[in-house]
Amino acid sequence: MNARHAELVEIVREAQRRYYDLDAPTMSDGEFDELFRELEQIESDHPELVTDDSPTARPGGSAPAADGSTTFAPVTHPRQMLSLEDVFSPEELATWLERAERLAGGPVEWLTEVKIDGLAVNLVYERGVLVRAATRGDGRVGEDVTANVRTIASIPAELTYDVSVGDGRFPIPEMLEVRGEVFFRLDDFAELNARLVAAGDKPFANPRNAAAGSLRQKDPAVTAARPLSMYCHGLGEVRGVTFERQSEAYTAFSSWGLPVSEHSLVVDSAAEVQARMEYWGAHRAEVEHEIDGLVVKVDRRATQHSMGATSRVPRWAVAYKYPPQEATTLLTDIQVGVGRTGRVTPYAVLEPVTVAGSTVARATLHNAAEVARKGVLIGDTVVIRKAGDVIPEVLGPVVALRDDGRSLRTFEMATHCPECGTPLAPAKDGDVDIRCPNARSCPAQLRERLFYLASRGAFDIDALGYEAATALLADGIVTDEGDLFDLTAKDLVRSVFFRKKDDGSLTKNGQTLLDFLERRKTQPLWRVIVALSIRYVGPTAARALAGRFGSLAAIRAATVEELAEADGVGPTIAEAVREWFTVDWHAGIVDKWAAAGVRMADDTAAVAAAIKSGEPIQ
Ligand code: IVH
Repeated sequence: MNARHAELVEIVREAQRRYYDLDAPTMSDGEFDELFRELEQIESDHPELVTDDSPTARPGGSAPAADGSTTFAPVTHPRQMLSLEDVFSPEELATWLERAERLAGGPVEWLTEVKIDGLAVNLVYERGVLVRAATRGDGRVGEDVTANVRTIASIPAELTYDVSVGDGRFPIPEMLEVRGEVFFRLDDFAELNARLVAAGDKPFANPRNAAAGSLRQKDPAVTAARPLSMYCHGLGEVRGVTFERQSEAYTAFSSWGLPVSEHSLVVDSAAEVQARMEYWGAHRAEVEHEIDGLVVKVDRRATQHSMGATSRVPRWAVAYKYPPQEATTLLTDIQVGVGRTGRVTPYAVLEPVTVAGSTVARATLHNAAEVARKGVLIGDTVVIRKAGDVIPEVLGPVVALRDDGRSLRTFEMATHCPECGTPLAPAKDGDVDIRCPNARSCPAQLRERLFYLASRGAFDIDALGYEAATALLADGIVTDEGDLFDLTAKDLVRSVFFRKKDDGSLTKNGQTLLDFLERRKTQPLWRVIVALSIRYVGPTAARALAGRFGSLAAIRAATVEELAEADGVGPTIAEAVREWFTVDWHAGIVDKWAAAGVRMADDTAAVAAAIKSGEPIQ
């Protein structure tokens, strides 16, 4: 159970990191919720396994790296930003409301709000002047996005005092920490994507990704060109004004020029809350932005305080999540893709259709057994489902529409890797997933690994994007990731991607890549470990291993038992690490990097001091 627990912690964390920090979710909401619930169940059965930093004890998302490698400086929020407990059915909502009323000690007035599918931002106003804006991060520490937030038209740089609102009861407070959601209105999103496509750029998959991507721009001028919106929905620290009700705070916000949603309403019974939930469920398409639920809050602030919060969520608020949205479309083909770990996954090629505000042209089918189980045929009309920000899924065929004479084809799972031609096989007997065993040189796996290695949670090499990775491999400039840190200008100009057309010299991008590679040789050890693409080893396990062992040599020499002693590393992760090093060419990557000057050890004294002081290890 211990092993399953460690594994779930790491898998859930990695999924959260990909969702919140990288805006690149890898699993469906349903899958995530299932894993999260399993973790909660294990922790309630085995309380001794619970740690302060279990994903169940913290809001999603992670703190940014303290070395600023995410480009934005870390900011500690004056008050922690909490998340919300989710409920998924009217019955769960009813139970939650009943329990909350008991905890509140009597009938409650409920403030109902639509749940905006965007990203949370914390604004700090001192004497009415906006001094800081930060993303939520892990709830305690977020990223400083002040310069970018200043470009959002609806957020005032300075608050105004409108005495006609609230009888002058709301003077500008000395200090105000106000939370809200940054998002794209659906009309602005459509326009932005049209603009991107016209300029030959890739459109965003959905408004939430677009909002996160636009807010995290290095250059505020780019954010300024993106019509982001924000609505305020909460308070942190406030000095100089008090509110009896949350709804009253919203009135004050709007009197100060802060944007609030027009869809909030105070009701005074559980039945009316359910009615609001049904109303917005049926009218979600009428809202100006994407919504993924209804948020229900106790309106009276005194009751909120008396009810309190867990380390992750308040006890006075809840999010009812609407079921995912569905649509039907034509399944034009089923193709297979190869991932970073060699997993070969069939995916549906669809006639593009709009679901939940974004266009869907592909959907995952997981594996061949799933395709068979779902009974879909190429040429079928299929039902697809999408929930908020997740990878769309094919649910099944609309069999009734089969008899119109269209030709249908059965999907045949590939027997050979579509990229390198190697015969495919399950990793272990009985596995449903089929893999390409050519991990070392399958171009697809290499491309994905290179791309991952360059991501923000690993070596953070901005100049090594998908296209650059593809070019390095296609032109034979690297045979595997081991060659990366030895690259020279002479190597790079062998590819047209890095060569100037006129004189054959190195392009600016090429030089930037070389500069990055040089600078990244002194990254902290945990980043090097993440970059190795060891199964289950994301930043958290990597930090734990680096903290405990201090060097890659020590990790390589450790036994499974010793590895498993690192915090949060259970037997499953320990075994995966051990196994990884037993492969010759894996060890070869490490050796080549070391020979090229990549730092393979941390200054253990500094690490120990950082752990002791509670500082994040960069
Ligand atoms: S209140 C302490 N109200 O949903 C309560 N959150 O799943 C904190 N969200 O982190 C949040 N619309 O980013 C609140 N009307 C709303 C919201 C809302 C969207 C987001 C927010 C929060 C997340 C939790």
